[in-house]
Amino acid sequence: MTDVLNEAAAAPEFSGKIINGKAVSARIRTVVREQALAFEEKSGRKPALAVVIAGDDPASKIYVRNKKNACAEVGFTSLEFALPADVSEEELLSLIGGLNVDANIDGILVQLPLPRGIDEKKIINAISPEKDVDCFHPVNVGRLCCGDPGFLPCTPAGIMELIAATGTSVRGKNCLVIGRSNIVGKPVSMLLLAADGTVTTAHSKTVGLKEIARNADILVAAVGRAKMIDASFIKPGAVVIDVGMNRDENGKLCGDCDFESVFPVCGAITPVPGGVGPMTITMLLRNTLYAAESIFEKKKAGGE
Ligand code: GUN
Repeated sequence: MTDVLNEAAAAPEFSGKIINGKAVSARIRTVVREQALAFEEKSGRKPALAVVIAGDDPASKIYVRNKKNACAEVGFTSLEFALPADVSEEELLSLIGGLNVDANIDGILVQLPLPRGIDEKKIINAISPEKDVDCFHPVNVGRLCCGDPGFLPCTPAGIMELIAATGTSVRGKNCLVIGRSNIVGKPVSMLLLAADGTVTTAHSKTVGLKEIARNADILVAAVGRAKMIDASFIKPGAVVIDVGMNRDENGKLCGDCDFESVFPVCGAITPVPGGVGPMTITMLLRNTLYAAESIFEKKKAGGE
């Protein structure tokens, strides 16, 4: 997989301390688009993503629409499988089983959350690890923990790209991840560790969070609490990545950081919106291309 753990100089997307996630995302999508064309030339078809959505959660519908639009933008095929909220676990498992063996599908994404009564773990575990572009399957999580090649989880990989865009090396740095979710906190801790960071994963039971935070050269906030992190948590010059997507007291979109307070103290910060958000789908596209290439190469090696 692409090496995102680099020590590159600051990219043009980083200016005035603000890390422009839209610009980083656009740069990577340009590369993915070119690689998708090259894939199509050698394989005779476009990389293809299957998106499964069950029920009518409005936020999920928007995410799915954005994913389909992003696929079109970079020249991928996307297929949507929209199922009713009362779909049974068996029906879902049967659909995934079919997609797993469909030679025209490279990536499978099941939009979460699933309707009540459906065992999400059972569904995720049914996705073929080689098509698991979310990197949620335990086999892929295990590969990530072992440092083996494979998919990188989307939001965490996006975070690593944003840190790299500042020209900051993770090696030897004190990294604090606040939040321990399976989607962000745990896997981003793994990526920071793989990049030779000294990583602390904090959570709701952590004692002395502020003191730990004040020692962090790189702080990733993935808590889900509006403006919880202010300047008093920040080491001067720290790189701050805000994964939060909350509403403030006026209903305005905001992160886990109090931007106005943190900005003067930090060395770099992602805005909300326009920071981490745009990166997640871009990393999904990169994973889908990686799946397409891997499946194609495996088939070729097998003489098919
Ligand atoms: N729901 C919210 N975020 C995600 C994600 O990254 N992947 C999937 N499959 N569902 C989600």
